[in-house]
Amino acid sequence: MESLYGGALHRRITILDLAAAKKRGEKWAMLTSYESMTAEIFDEAQIPVLLVGDSAGNNFLGEENTIPVTVDELIPLARAVVRGSQRAMVVADLPFGSYEQSPEQALATSVRFFKEAGVMAVKLEGAHIETVKKLVNSGIPVMGHVGLTPQSMHQLGGYKVQGRTDADVIINAAKDLEAAGAFAIVLELVPAELAARITAELAIPTIGIGAGINCDAQVLVWTDLMGITKKSPKLAKAYRNLRAEMLAATTEFADDVRTGAFPTQEQTFN
Ligand code: KIV
Repeated sequence: MESLYGGALHRRITILDLAAAKKRGEKWAMLTSYESMTAEIFDEAQIPVLLVGDSAGNNFLGEENTIPVTVDELIPLARAVVRGSQRAMVVADLPFGSYEQSPEQALATSVRFFKEAGVMAVKLEGAHIETVKKLVNSGIPVMGHVGLTPQSMHQLGGYKVQGRTDADVIINAAKDLEAAGAFAIVLELVPAELAARITAELAIPTIGIGAGINCDAQVLVWTDLMGITKKSPKLAKAYRNLRAEMLAATTEFADDVRTGAFPTQEQTFN
């Protein structure tokens, strides 16, 4: 069977590869990444899409949430992820306040991510239909994001499952984004039945996070995947406990320094 990385693929994944994967029913994984080391590892693991999410706010920059993240903060992280990877498509989140004013503002911000970081696509939250059209017509692939949109957490009243009472709003937003030219849509924190319905009705891939098993792809924040996040949300699964591992290694190192067990002859130059 063909696959996203089937055979010797010495080029980056494109939106056409993702469209073809949907047609043949191949599921794929997306991960966030905020610097070059994780990008390198995830690329080696053949993760086809790396998202430089504004989740960098609470998972890298020490902020409480994604709202304070700026374009100037995210561009160097995106550049590092592009540099650290060779095959993944790198997508940058447009930070809160950098695209909502007008399609022109969104285009100017996206052009910065393309020129200064070298990303291959951008993601934006909500149904900004004219903006998506403007970007796509300017040659910028756009990933949509509906359901729970964390940049609107104050308007939504917190991190809550969306679409339980207003499923049509989310279905219509997803359909409008597809019609505007989005190449994929993140569905965050929506009931699994709703995500399954959207996935069946759209020709473009859906990428679920807290949206059940029936999406075309799944995304996780990498610090949740690795068990580094202190309090992981219910929608995430920790595949390792790197927090405990790193704490143990750090304590061991500090003890070795205190007791004179490090450095040994092996780390010493004569
Ligand atoms: O910023 C982010 O990491 C995201 C994903 C959770 C989809 O938007």
